[in-house]
Amino acid sequence: MFHVEQSLYCYRLFLSEIPLFSVSLFLHFNLIDPFPMNDKLSNLDAKIAAAQLGGGQKRIDAQHKKGKLTARERLHFLLDEGSFEEIGMLVTHRSREFGLEKEIYPGDGVVTGYGTIAGRLVYVFSQDFTVFGGSLSETHAEKICKVMDLAMQNGAPVIGLNDSGGARIQEGVVSLGGYADIFYRNTLASGVIPQISAIMGPCAGGAVYSPAITDFIMMVENTSYMFVTGPNVVKTVTHEEVTSEELGGASTHSTKSGVTHFSCANEVECINNIKKLFSYIPSNCEEDAPALPYSGGDEKRISLNDIIPANPNQPYDIRDVISGVIDEDSFFEVHKNFAENIVVGFARIGGRSIGIVANQPAFLAGVLDNHASTKAARFVRFCDSFNVPLLVFEDVPGFLPGTDQEWNAIITNGAKLLYAFCEATVPRITVITRKAYGGAYDVMNSKHIGADMNYAWPTAEIAVMGAKGAAEIIFKKEISEAKDPEAKLKEKEKEYTDLFANPYKAAERGYIDEVIRPEDTRSKLMKAFKMLENKVAVLPKKKHGNIPL
Ligand code: HXC
Repeated sequence: MFHVEQSLYCYRLFLSEIPLFSVSLFLHFNLIDPFPMNDKLSNLDAKIAAAQLGGGQKRIDAQHKKGKLTARERLHFLLDEGSFEEIGMLVTHRSREFGLEKEIYPGDGVVTGYGTIAGRLVYVFSQDFTVFGGSLSETHAEKICKVMDLAMQNGAPVIGLNDSGGARIQEGVVSLGGYADIFYRNTLASGVIPQISAIMGPCAGGAVYSPAITDFIMMVENTSYMFVTGPNVVKTVTHEEVTSEELGGASTHSTKSGVTHFSCANEVECINNIKKLFSYIPSNCEEDAPALPYSGGDEKRISLNDIIPANPNQPYDIRDVISGVIDEDSFFEVHKNFAENIVVGFARIGGRSIGIVANQPAFLAGVLDNHASTKAARFVRFCDSFNVPLLVFEDVPGFLPGTDQEWNAIITNGAKLLYAFCEATVPRITVITRKAYGGAYDVMNSKHIGADMNYAWPTAEIAVMGAKGAAEIIFKKEISEAKDPEAKLKEKEKEYTDLFANPYKAAERGYIDEVIRPEDTRSKLMKAFKMLENKVAVLPKKKHGNIPL
């Protein structure tokens, strides 16, 4: 018998001085391939090819037929060319029940690894619907956890491309455990590294809770769904008949529930949105967002002088103010179709990233309600977690009254926004363009709750309430006893307006740092943000606060 050590010795010879001798020796004994590496490489190639085929060509074709890309195609579009490094391509499941031992797919339904977007490191996982419907097994979860751990260790975002039927039903509790392992990591990573989720297919059961803990969710119209229980279960339990699209499609979640922040026309738009979003945010909570070069220019914006209508009750689009102030075409709106009475999104000013929160007078007069409060609170907290300075445009008549609002906890929800601003330590600037009434004045990043600079346009009205309501209450007796109550009301209304419907009382107190011409807003903001660049604000030592959830 040819001894192993002998074989190794001969192999070394083959590699060094006497190749011909060793070849003839090997051939003579006819025991070892003279070119063993070739076989090994073919073997590896076969394994890679099998992994790349996922659940097989037939299922890939079915995926394409639905207008969906495969897990690998999505990563190809997401990451810089040639930057993707895969981790765990050959991992397989350990399940031996229900015949699963005969259905083994290398990679086990998720492609994981790291790469770059515009040269910046990101960790990724992309679920493969062609393998057991992208369902999450014990090993599938382990692969995701591995990249999440690396992301935390190395301070870079995790981007998850989700396309999954939820817990792998054949695996039982180990699959549930796998989900919990991911949820736990999502939570610990929250506020440390950005986490972005794209929903690119049906996501049911556990598949929706991990995205829900992440910072941003994008959905693709008509091909992606999110629900805890699908239409069949809904029908059994509540007897409601509802389609997947109605129950949990992109349009439902971007308008009704607010679960998703972006509704994208197709997968390519979704991937482009992820890249765009990433350009505004830092890689972790210790860093600043990347800045674009800015060489300066004429910062005066005359068009801003003409935006506020003469009639204070006439609407205007706050986006005109936003685009008039920021760097050209830099506004990237978040949660666009949800709670449209408040506008939130990222922008750049002088090349630097900022987060904008703005009341929208063109929708419900810009009133604060339940959805607007939670939408803005979540955005404020993201910006504060990741060092993105905040700019607030304020034109708010107050909180929306009514049973619907009260019974759906406007007290708690309004407090979320209040709390989020109070707690934020990033540079914070407010510009009051018109109304700042009642509690909403306090809530919308007022000086009293820690804003650094507060500006008002001369059109600002800062008071406890609108003049008519105020006059009716405080001059009730006088008005009712007047010969002409209507004329008296008008007179008192004017008195209140003259006294309070302006920014000067607040400016006298220093609650407003400066009343500015609209045309100067951009240059004031650029200087103020620069002045606040090295802001240090420390909150009292605590384990964590208890935001009213
Ligand atoms: C194992 C699954 C699977 C699952 C789908 N498949 N979901 N395999 N576990 N959860 C498999 C199918 O058997 C099929 O295999 C392939 O994936 C494609 O599925 P189809 O049903 O043919 O596709 P489609 O018609 O597009 O429907 C997709 C779907 C549906 C909507 C996701 O498959 C579905 O409803 N799946 C079950 C969803 C669910 O109830 N999940 C468990 C949730 S409980 P073949 O071999 O034919 O290709 C849960 C608990 C966690 O997640 C809770 C944590 C908080």
